[in-house]
Amino acid sequence: MKIESNYSLEQHNTFHLPVKARWFMEYTNEEELGRILRDEYFQECLSLHIGSGSNLLFINDYNGIILHSKIKGMELIESTDESITLRVGAGEIWDEFVAYAVAQGWGGIENLSLIPGEVGAAAVQNIGAYGVEIKDVIVEVETYNQLTFEKRIFSNAECLYGYRDSYFKNPHNDPHIVTHVTFRLSKQPRFVLQYGNLEKELAGCEELTPLAVRKAVIDIRRRKLPDPAELGNAGSFFKNPIIPREQFERLKQANPNIPAYPAGEDAVKVPAGWLIEQCGLKGKSFGPVGVYEKQALVLVNLGGAEGHEIALAAESVREAVRQRFGIELMPEVQYIG
Ligand code: EPU
Repeated sequence: MKIESNYSLEQHNTFHLPVKARWFMEYTNEEELGRILRDEYFQECLSLHIGSGSNLLFINDYNGIILHSKIKGMELIESTDESITLRVGAGEIWDEFVAYAVAQGWGGIENLSLIPGEVGAAAVQNIGAYGVEIKDVIVEVETYNQLTFEKRIFSNAECLYGYRDSYFKNPHNDPHIVTHVTFRLSKQPRFVLQYGNLEKELAGCEELTPLAVRKAVIDIRRRKLPDPAELGNAGSFFKNPIIPREQFERLKQANPNIPAYPAGEDAVKVPAGWLIEQCGLKGKSFGPVGVYEKQALVLVNLGGAEGHEIALAAESVREAVRQRFGIELMPEVQYIG
């Protein structure tokens, strides 16, 4: 177990904000986690469990305890002719798991290549890309209830997954810390290639394999999305808004080229990146905060930005979209503080 005080979080948030935590605690197994949670001092303090901080915006220093999982391991649970079931520690790096699975020829998560973050947080956030969401391959999620200290295994259905949403994100539920996630991957993969230009990217490909799809996804992402190691960012800053079909039809009359994805019978999902670009904000900056030049849905730290400056820039973007389209953008990124 690692316990540090007055700890810099600069390497624990992908905006690279130089904020500090009063305490930072890192555990490597469930026993250590249990000990931390039962500690009286812990119970009196404000606390926040983080993954790799790839979806967080710290507005200021964190006056409490930051918890981080180092629970590792990928354990084989079952192997049949069709599928393989694996139990993975919440502290594993998501993309290392994807790379490992793809190298074995196991399919199901190749479209989720290169998404920053760790396995536990990925299951909380229901990460998604190129027509696939992590919920499509999750069997169950093992958790520790932070208030009652009970362990509970959530079936996929009990996780109540939605678009970038789950039971674990609902503040009305008891806080649950994810310790392990069990995945079922396919040995006879059926690929999901309909999204965007993925199929086009694979046009010259001789044999369609999880590895080939991973490579294509990585190439697309590298062209569009900034590498957090070089330019601080948290991926998509906003969720793609889901609007009533009626409103969409009106928008389409005025903007015939508006892209859209189905979202149930009476609703349509509209790309926030497109809305922001139409407001003329792509590549623009608000002081040290930029709207990324190749993907307007991403806000970047151009250097030395502080959390409140990023929040202010996000507000300006929301206001512009509200004025122009009457649509309210909601952050995908979680604000802390
Ligand atoms: N678009 C623009 N201008 C832009 C950006 C996008 O016009 O600046 C248009 C594109 O031309 C396209 C549409 O918007 O028609 C969708 O763009 P893209 O395929 O890049 O995907 P997105 O909707 O902007 C979502 C996810 C991404 C994920 C991609 C690919 C959300 C909030 N974001 O972005 O996830 O990688 O699809 O599947 O759902 C993340 O969550 O951090 C993330 C990067």
